[in-house]
Amino acid sequence: MSPNQPEPTSRFLRACRKLPVDRIPVWMMRQAGRYQPSYRAVRQKVGFLELCHSPELIAQVTASPIDEFGFDAAILFSDILIHLPAMGLDLSFEKGEKGKGDGGPKIANPVRTRADVDALKIPDPARDLPYVAAGIRAIQRTLAGRVPLVGFVGGPFTVASYAVEGGSQGFTRLKTLLYTDPAATHALFEKLTRAAIVQLQAQVEAGAQAVQIFESWLGELGREDLEAYVFPYLARIAEAIRPMGVPTILFSTTTSTHIGPMSKLGYDVLSVDWRIPIAEARAQAPDLAFQGNLDSILLLGPQKLLLDRTRALLEEGSRRPGYIFNLGHGITPPTPPENVKAVVDAVHAFPVPRG
Ligand code: CP3
Repeated sequence: MSPNQPEPTSRFLRACRKLPVDRIPVWMMRQAGRYQPSYRAVRQKVGFLELCHSPELIAQVTASPIDEFGFDAAILFSDILIHLPAMGLDLSFEKGEKGKGDGGPKIANPVRTRADVDALKIPDPARDLPYVAAGIRAIQRTLAGRVPLVGFVGGPFTVASYAVEGGSQGFTRLKTLLYTDPAATHALFEKLTRAAIVQLQAQVEAGAQAVQIFESWLGELGREDLEAYVFPYLARIAEAIRPMGVPTILFSTTTSTHIGPMSKLGYDVLSVDWRIPIAEARAQAPDLAFQGNLDSILLLGPQKLLLDRTRALLEEGSRRPGYIFNLGHGITPPTPPENVKAVVDAVHAFPVPRG
């Protein structure tokens, strides 16, 4: 935080800055989604991309979990792949067929060669994605200062995995590209990094008060390749956003073995999954704030276990300032909304120890 900036008042932004809080802030990844009857009702009427293109619907869907559950932060309703059409990729979301899974992103012309990489355009958010900034302004009118808004983009590795595989089809093609054509891989990550930076800048200018980088699948690479191919780009994103004065959160999964190096990339908050205890993560990066890390599937289970684990996590997380309660990954569609409400209430009932 720059010295001339006033201290934030919201729990969430205070925790990002490791300032003392009255209660532990809580939000959940995918807090707006198919587990909510209100979201399913919207999706009965419009397709997923259509929803992401409508500022009014973006505002409605983003604000709904704040009204329904009392979360301490809102997250922009959009997608990490939203800009791919502007880069030249033909993106669609398949309708989930009954009994055949939930569907997912499809790219008809995936990136496979150096020529494909060279053909990718850097999006201009004002021209290509005007509904995102308009959505953020509409969200801010709807929220009216109740909670801060988190903007986001996908990390270069995670977005590349969809761009190269053509959908949620693993990592073999991307990793093969990386091992056979390092220069093309760097060129691809370079473009995806520039695309990430311009989008985050536009989101912050429109009113996002924190940003999260979803580098969900980072754990697919070993340390050597992370250091060579991904960490430098993640550091560039953090560096580009730092002057804008909003906290930055780096989210990834199955990366517990890389907390030390990840803590040096310039982010304020690391969002970790359930594979590492918060106290252990914190011991490896004492200067950072942490977010996480309840197993999302606990939300499907018996409520007693869910609340026991919630309280155990609160005991551990609240020992030092700089903790945001969240899941280790997103809420899944079969989650009963009453379990989400029970967790939020338990977090807000938990007395924060005085430091
Ligand atoms: O509430 C929020 O978290 C904000 C909105 C948000 C969505 N996607 C909405 C969405 C955010 C932050 C994302 C990020 C995202 N998108 C990630 C990173 C997070 C993660 O889960 O690791 C990824 C990998 C994507 C790409 C993506 N979008 C996939 C693979 C899918 C299909 C799988 C699925 O969960 O359905 C989507 C679709 C998507 N994005 C949905 C939502 C609510 C479901 C679409 C629907 O309504 O049918």
